[in-house]
Amino acid sequence: MTASLPWTARFIAPLPHSDTTDRSERAPLFRRDFTASSPRRAVLHVTALGFVEAYLNGHRVGDEVLAPGWTSYRHRLNYSTYDVTDLLKDGANTLGAMVGEGWARGRLGWEGAGPTKNIFADRPGLFMQLELDYADHAETVVTDTDFRTAPGPVLSDSIYDGEQYDARLELPGWSTPGFNATGWAGVEVIDWDLETLEAPTKEPVRRIEEIAVQRLITSPSGKTVADFGQNLVGWVRVNVEGDAGTTVTLRHAEVLEDGELGTRPLRTAKATDNYTLRGGGAETWEPRFTFHGFRYVEIKGYPGQLTADRLTAVVIHTDMTRTGWFESSNPLLNQLHRNTLWSMKGNFVSLPTDCPQRDERLGWTGDINVFGPTAAYLYDVRGILGSWLRDLALEQSEKGYVPMVVPDFQTHAAPMTTAVWSDAAVLLPWTLYQAYGDERILADAYNSMKDFTAQVEGLLNPVGLWDTGFQFGDWLDPDAPPENPGKGKTEPHLVAAAYCCRVTQVMAQTAGILGHQEDQTRYLKLAARVKQAFLDEYVAPSGRLVNGSATAYALAITFDILTHAQEARAGEALAALVAEAKYTISTGFVGTPVLCDALTRTGHLEDAYRLLLQTECPSFLYPVTMDATTIWERWDSMRPDGTVNPGGMTSFNHYALGAVADWLHRTVAGLAPAEPGYKRIRFAPKPGGDLTSAAARHLTPYGEAAISWRIGDDGTVVVDVTVPEGTNAEVILPLHPEDLVTEVGPGTHHWNYQAPECFNERPAYSLDTTFGVLAQDPEIWQTFTETFASYFPGIPLEGNSPEAKNLTIKDMLGMIPMRPEGFAEAIEKVLTAANEVTT
Ligand code: BGC
Repeated sequence: MTASLPWTARFIAPLPHSDTTDRSERAPLFRRDFTASSPRRAVLHVTALGFVEAYLNGHRVGDEVLAPGWTSYRHRLNYSTYDVTDLLKDGANTLGAMVGEGWARGRLGWEGAGPTKNIFADRPGLFMQLELDYADHAETVVTDTDFRTAPGPVLSDSIYDGEQYDARLELPGWSTPGFNATGWAGVEVIDWDLETLEAPTKEPVRRIEEIAVQRLITSPSGKTVADFGQNLVGWVRVNVEGDAGTTVTLRHAEVLEDGELGTRPLRTAKATDNYTLRGGGAETWEPRFTFHGFRYVEIKGYPGQLTADRLTAVVIHTDMTRTGWFESSNPLLNQLHRNTLWSMKGNFVSLPTDCPQRDERLGWTGDINVFGPTAAYLYDVRGILGSWLRDLALEQSEKGYVPMVVPDFQTHAAPMTTAVWSDAAVLLPWTLYQAYGDERILADAYNSMKDFTAQVEGLLNPVGLWDTGFQFGDWLDPDAPPENPGKGKTEPHLVAAAYCCRVTQVMAQTAGILGHQEDQTRYLKLAARVKQAFLDEYVAPSGRLVNGSATAYALAITFDILTHAQEARAGEALAALVAEAKYTISTGFVGTPVLCDALTRTGHLEDAYRLLLQTECPSFLYPVTMDATTIWERWDSMRPDGTVNPGGMTSFNHYALGAVADWLHRTVAGLAPAEPGYKRIRFAPKPGGDLTSAAARHLTPYGEAAISWRIGDDGTVVVDVTVPEGTNAEVILPLHPEDLVTEVGPGTHHWNYQAPECFNERPAYSLDTTFGVLAQDPEIWQTFTETFASYFPGIPLEGNSPEAKNLTIKDMLGMIPMRPEGFAEAIEKVLTAANEVTT
């Protein structure tokens, strides 16, 4: 904790009972008059226990929204600093502020999560220190008992429930000199540890863009609904003219169900704003102390004719620098990527959250753990995630475990250490180190990483398995029942044991990088122990897994747990499972981010592409076909019949499953760091599926790296690469006739060559073709199995099981000595017909 400035200001709050009860929820205004005489410079520091807007002489100071953002307030409360020299006047001046509930005092957490209000503070505390720098001396104007307070026009505000504003209660000129503040009440100094005050290390939340109404709808029940065409996070600005006292109500939702606002996924969040008009002319209003996740807004009480131009959606998020782009020849894939980007925007509102709309919006550790690599590609997240990791470490040292959400709002919850969630403590700093190459990220997090690992070590059984305690497991496996998302196919303790392998490997590497040799030796031993325990418990010597789900295989493969031979066998088994599921997705939060990698790494690239490009539910692209504009929490948040999934976890804006975008960047487009921070880059695109082109750009710490590849109809391959100064790159050219791998330095590089003949053709089908190959081709597999069934009704044919995969058609015919007449000929006819069409 650092108190970087000598503070003379104190936190102030309205005197208790200075207000009548019916006004008690109203966001207080604070003001103080003072004089100044042209200082060289005037700097204002401001923060609050709640959201704060500062004013000087009637002007809003700064452009931040939802300030001071959310941090672990008990340890760190950020303050904002503004140069206000230009707003200051010679003579009389007035400092003002409006304070909302925010995260410090407002409702937090789902039903049953415990106390939900006033979790971090129970008074609307304001802190301001204005520093006036005169040539020969300095003066300060600070929050103290000279301030006065009165209830403002914000009747109530809550991030979950929305804001109620009555413009008739506005006090014109309240933050300008000369305002008559008679009747304003006194304030008192309240206790708040000033040691917690810190300058922010993350960018503030700002209004980032605006979106116009795409269409105005009249719902079946006659309600007026605006569709912004994009599921977004922020609020609506409304332009209106009407009689004083008229109230316009805006209710927000992410989806329509049966043509009406689908608010059930919001659970207890009311997501409703009310604006009561002051009357007498054109009025423009937008809320300031709430935010919503929505695409649709239902408008009630609008006076006169509502036209689309009267409403504007204001998109807010932490003002990070965009660093990553991706594009391909497949429009659905591009939309999937866009959806990932939008889910990131909507869930990077001061901290990385699970969702932005229902009664959560919390810093769930597991979600950012799996999404981290994608996030670090799309935006520069050093600020926001670095700040959040500090909160994680502080809460961890206070509580002795890593809470499931950071900042933790549950003061009395039982400690719960779960794999994938809690081990964000180790894996997220590692992700950031890979993206930015800065060893300080690891050094800063090292104690937290060590403490977490020590704690997990203490939970291991004698052989080294993490086999007890609650685990979320492969959360939201599509086969888990809607009401029990943790009950997926993969044994939760297998997930924990696999993640333990990963965490201990990363610890050994981290200790090595930081030069902690003893630690490194210890972690290497621990890593070997937990890996052996995993192998003994879950892996047959052949490489088959006891709990053979796609998630289990994908983890064992990508976490380097298996021997080379086992890995190949596991890859086959994984490919078989994926094919068996007809290339629909069968993994949840844990398996999804590593599934395509596991297939690629074991030589099943085409299976990865078929999975990626599948549009049947559940799949990556199914939501895109259902008009999704963000990543959904569940594969089928909206079901094919248009109904909203009945499960409680049904957000339409959850970035976790968007983690596949990392594979799009690294493998489809082919841009990845070969060394931490892109000091060395690997361009290794792996075209597949029906893609004819892809491109990626990333602003690395050294400058922009870029790649694009394109395959022409005639088999010409064009590859362009940009390598930033100070780095070099390995380029593994796709479909190159000589498999060219080349080294290049900074600058732009261009290749143009002919792919090997038949690069996209498969060999003709024959009696020597295996079942495995046939099963890869949905059309022939269907005619083949139908033909078989017409001779052998009721006998199922399996193309993807490890046993069947290598079986040739000839083998199959040989296994049926008493073949019905015409059977062999019919099968041959199927093959010939398929060859005529496609080769
Ligand atoms: C959140 C998740 C989170 C999960 C933990 C949910 O309510 O929305 O994204 O990771 O709980 O199980």
